[in-house]
Amino acid sequence: MFQLTSEQEMIMLMARDFAKKELEPYAEVRDRQEIFPEDTVKKMGELGLMGMMVPGKYGGSGAGAVSYSIALSEIAYACASTGVTMSVANLSEEPVLKFGSEEQKREYLVPMATGKVLGAFAVTDPGAGSDPGGMGTRAEDKGDYYLVNGTKSFITNGAYAGVINLIAKTSPEKGNRGLSAFIVEKGFPGFHVGKKESKMGLRASNTVELIFDDCRIPKENLVGKEGQGFKIAMVALDSGRIGIASQSIGIARACLDEAIKYSRERRQFGKAIGSFQAIRWMIADMATEIEAARLLTLSAADRKDKGLRFTKEASMAKLFASEAANRAAYKALQVHGGYGYIKDFKIERLYRDARVTTIYEGTSEVQRIVISREVARGAM
Ligand code: CAA
Repeated sequence: MFQLTSEQEMIMLMARDFAKKELEPYAEVRDRQEIFPEDTVKKMGELGLMGMMVPGKYGGSGAGAVSYSIALSEIAYACASTGVTMSVANLSEEPVLKFGSEEQKREYLVPMATGKVLGAFAVTDPGAGSDPGGMGTRAEDKGDYYLVNGTKSFITNGAYAGVINLIAKTSPEKGNRGLSAFIVEKGFPGFHVGKKESKMGLRASNTVELIFDDCRIPKENLVGKEGQGFKIAMVALDSGRIGIASQSIGIARACLDEAIKYSRERRQFGKAIGSFQAIRWMIADMATEIEAARLLTLSAADRKDKGLRFTKEASMAKLFASEAANRAAYKALQVHGGYGYIKDFKIERLYRDARVTTIYEGTSEVQRIVISREVARGAM
């Protein structure tokens, strides 16, 4: 049903080739030793993978959301950690692209989209994950600057980011309408990188706390208008969810391939276990769900490329693809039996990597809130 154009096909093959050479051989050791591949991420920037939804005018490759989705799946297939690094880098460009001024685009978007500077997106507080309106991070208007105090947690790319998109509270009494968006440079006084998290999976991606201790943000670094921060975050997350759905597809495809490979090699009761119907059905279910996830994600991406509203489609894609990735990881590990539970087999890493996809960029429960609201308001 979904025919890629020759350009999209070319981008997919380029990303696949890069991932095979630069990611796959090192993914295991990077996971074990929690190595963030800074140089590889730079190379991805040079290939145009870090600014795929940004037009050429602002340094991006302008390839669009469909190309972005298929390229990200290829990267995540080889290394899910690098998949989330790429996803968050592209997501971090959306606030400036959609709501930033011309000067902000020139100063901050161009370096991010060309991959010279890595971006991060700081919404989550220790006490406010699903409910950003409840955040504690404050930005007080002090005339020609904002004074920011608070902590952001679970920030992907945080320690390596040169530009951080920050959402902070400017009018605490106004809830969601009291949030604003800012651009923070890593060198701003009062900004520090805090604790690095040691995670269950995606251990080669960087996840840290960001600390704002009387951090001064110049007035001109407010993105959009005061009070627009929640909307800006939601608009960016619509695109972000296409990214996480694509990452999930990459992980699920890797699980499927590992299950097929192992089921051909492993013999029990005198034959390859892949000849048993019990195993074949698991393979069939995995393959079917991956295809469904791919079509949902491409449909959301295609709507984005056409300038149509895609909130519901992005949430459906993220919900389904992330849960399908977890089901695929579960089944693929089951196919491996006891060997799947030890670190010598790749499926052990994939199983851990899959787990967070139903949690970050909006839990499965949050996606269901978004989808049910969109359906109720007639977006079908
Ligand atoms: N586009 C544009 N505007 C939107 C929007 C969208 N997709 N979604 C909501 N809005 C607007 C609404 O229209 C509404 O506007 P008005 O105030 O003018 O009426 C306003 O935003 C408030 O919307 P809601 O009433 O829907 O807000 P809510 O408090 O009920 O929250 C929610 C809804 C869906 C639960 C939302 O808070 C949410 O998505 N939470 C999850 C947060 C999240 O995904 N965090 C991820 C952090 S980033 C990350 O994980 C990156 C990483 O490291 C991988």
